[in-house]
Amino acid sequence: MSPRPAAPIGFAPPPIDEDAVAAVAAVLRSGWITTGPEVAGLEEDLQVFLGANAVGCFGSWTEAAELVWRWWGLGPGDEVIVPAVTFAATANVVLHCGAVPVVVDVDPSDWNVSAAAIAAAMTPRTKGVMPVDLGGWPVDYGAIREVVEAGRKDFTPANSVQTQLGRPLFFADAAHSFGAVYGGRPVAEQADFTAFSFHAVKNFTTAEGGAVVCALPDGFDRAEILRWMKVWGLHGATRDALAKARGGQWEYDVVGAGYKCNMTDLQAAIGRAQLPKYAAQLEVRGELARRYDEGFKGLQGVQLPPREDGLRRSAFHLYALHFLDWSEEQRNALIGRLREDGIPTNVHFIPLARLSVHRDRGLRREDFPMAERHFRGAISLPLHTSLQRDQQDWIVERVVHHATALSG
Ligand SMILES: Cc1ncc(COP(=O)(O)O)c(C=O)c1O
Repeated sequence: MSPRPAAPIGFAPPPIDEDAVAAVAAVLRSGWITTGPEVAGLEEDLQVFLGANAVGCFGSWTEAAELVWRWWGLGPGDEVIVPAVTFAATANVVLHCGAVPVVVDVDPSDWNVSAAAIAAAMTPRTKGVMPVDLGGWPVDYGAIREVVEAGRKDFTPANSVQTQLGRPLFFADAAHSFGAVYGGRPVAEQADFTAFSFHAVKNFTTAEGGAVVCALPDGFDRAEILRWMKVWGLHGATRDALAKARGGQWEYDVVGAGYKCNMTDLQAAIGRAQLPKYAAQLEVRGELARRYDEGFKGLQGVQLPPREDGLRRSAFHLYALHFLDWSEEQRNALIGRLREDGIPTNVHFIPLARLSVHRDRGLRREDFPMAERHFRGAISLPLHTSLQRDQQDWIVERVVHHATALSG
């Protein structure tokens, strides 16, 4: 039996080191702390890291996503297809626009939404699809793109950009999959838009923050679309604070009642300090996932998270076990026993149909049997770059011990 480690085990502490502290201190001393050169620098760094042409940073995934849907002109009567297992934000941004999130059940092979499920939910009102790379494991982008292309025949555009694209918008919720790979390339340009979250618990963090990649087909001015998002993310103002302060030009117009969605230089500095180390951090996460797999290979009735296949490589954001035939009580008992052993865990996610906001609009959990099955048996274990080997050995041993007792 492994001894209980002396150091407390965190669930997902941020990978902040002295370089990040120094970078933030430098911005604090620079005389400019809101959106400015650091944000522009992070956008350039992300373009290189992702191999993407058009990248914009915002205050969160949610802000970036909402701006995309506003640009697209999503509105009342429109539908966007989203998975039954995701964080509330995915559906909330659709609701903010007055549109309907059409929730589809997930696939038990990897708990992502499948292209077939999306195809079955398409209607003439479908204005977009928003699959989620759950835990950092990419959806089947190629197959979903085919479904979206096939959506041309029933698509009814409501404005000029919808007419130009001529089909539903493919928006990837890549909140978990920064650094994941699909088809030999980083997840970034497989969808029309791809948005990452840099929230405090994510692999790559700016405390709060997010980035969006625009990869609309040729004919769209991607840089101009990002510029539109920046303007609408700053109250619709045509000149930002830096341009006013340093450019010596105080005049501006406000082209519409925009929002407030900017990332600050303080946040961007944290990201810029981390990015050169991120590839190595992904390797550490992958190795931890491999060690977990090794430790759990003899455990009965459990599905391990996917790590890699010929097409995809995970970003290893979450390490979630799935006890396939467990009840909620068994899962909760495991969480409680692990807590007593000093092991923090989590459940990703409570299915949308269980949340009041969606129950109140008529969703019933019985209609999403796979999301329910996922929820009953899902438990996410600590996965982060400061997890020590003795801590991981302790986690594996306690999970195997308690799960075996609870399954028996
Ligand atoms: C799947 C998913 N989508 C979207 C978000 C929202 O990200 P943010 O907090 O950066 O707005 C999250 C955050 O946890 C998430 O898990």
